[in-house]
Amino acid sequence: MRFRVTARTILHLGSDLISSDGVAFYELVKNSLDAKSPEVRVDVLVRMPFEVYDELLRELGERREPNERGIAAPARAPRTWKHLRETAIAAIDQEAPESGDLIEALRDADTKREFVAALRDANRIDVDDDGDGMDIETLESVYLTIGTGQRARERDAQAARPLDPLEDEDQAHVILGEKGLGRLSAMRLGDALEVLTATASDRHWNVLNINWNEFADAADEDISSVEVTPEEGGPKDSIRKGTLIRITALTSAWSYDKLELLAREHFSKLVDPFSRRTLPLRLKFNEISVEIPPFSSFILDHAHGVFDAHLGFDEGGQPILSGMMNYRMRGRRRPFAFRGWRSRVWRAM
Ligand SMILES: Nc1ncnc2c1ncn2[C@@H]1O[C@H](COP(=O)(O)OP(=O)(O)OP(=O)(O)O)[C@@H](O)[C@H]1O
Ligand SMILES: [Mg+2]
Repeated sequence: MRFRVTARTILHLGSDLISSDGVAFYELVKNSLDAKSPEVRVDVLVRMPFEVYDELLRELGERREPNERGIAAPARAPRTWKHLRETAIAAIDQEAPESGDLIEALRDADTKREFVAALRDANRIDVDDDGDGMDIETLESVYLTIGTGQRARERDAQAARPLDPLEDEDQAHVILGEKGLGRLSAMRLGDALEVLTATASDRHWNVLNINWNEFADAADEDISSVEVTPEEGGPKDSIRKGTLIRITALTSAWSYDKLELLAREHFSKLVDPFSRRTLPLRLKFNEISVEIPPFSSFILDHAHGVFDAHLGFDEGGQPILSGMMNYRMRGRRRPFAFRGWRSRVWRAM
């Protein structure tokens, strides 16, 4: 006998083990940094209020999990997709980017399937990078292997390398991935995932589409019963490389304020407060930039006391560390000065 893995296991690994939306984002950003991307762009696009989107899909019998807010299903007989078309179009935020495209897609839908597809695409989250990207073999052999050891091996190789004393610690590329599961966190954010990726030497983009609902439908069957096949996408100019992770059929509501909270509570903590590096992350909600406050200044703003110090040398070459201590809690300030190579107190006034 051997273990069998059911299709539903992947859903538990992705959405249940990831504790929050912030952690889900963090996993995707980590992957872009592991791919040595100089910058990571996260764009949240909301063209239709989540409540309307959610109710329309429920009425069409196209939502997986039970209604979180516990609202009972409408008593009236469900309307057909054609009846819901005008409701959907009327709910679109005309000011949102690409709202015209969504109106067109909903208007042009000829079947329920096309209408539902357009609805599922209404709101999305993009995580876009210019990292090393993946060729089609890597997509097949690494991206589609749960528990892949790709980054773990690179990490071990890095740890085994002797330390280079000339390498600036802040410039060193530290590999963050290790478990081979992080990308599954995308399913916490949305039911559909599109990966558009290429390495510098690829002549085409490589595309992978995953509909996580298919794993829910196949629940007790073997995980390999769900077909997931990477395909060749459009042509690509020679030097471009990178990965776009596009998440649609979002599972929760997003707003500028929610993203700002995430930036403050989560993203600002992704950087070592004592490092000189800034996080190369650009965050936008409907094309409007969301600022990520540096965690170091956030700590200082809330500290009970702070000091400004200056390091200088006297005529004899002895170092002097001097400055002003501000005891904010007590509303008092005190100058200080330390002299000498050891941490010996020279004079405290
Ligand atoms: N943005 C990306 N660019 C290039 N390769 C990627 C990207 N995202 C994922 N990959 C590839 O997919 C693999 C799986 O990613 P995943 O986050 O699931 O695991 P991991 O990063 O190896 O480990 P961890 O679970 O600790 O994050 C990575 O090892 C990497 O090879
Ligand atoms: Mg990872």
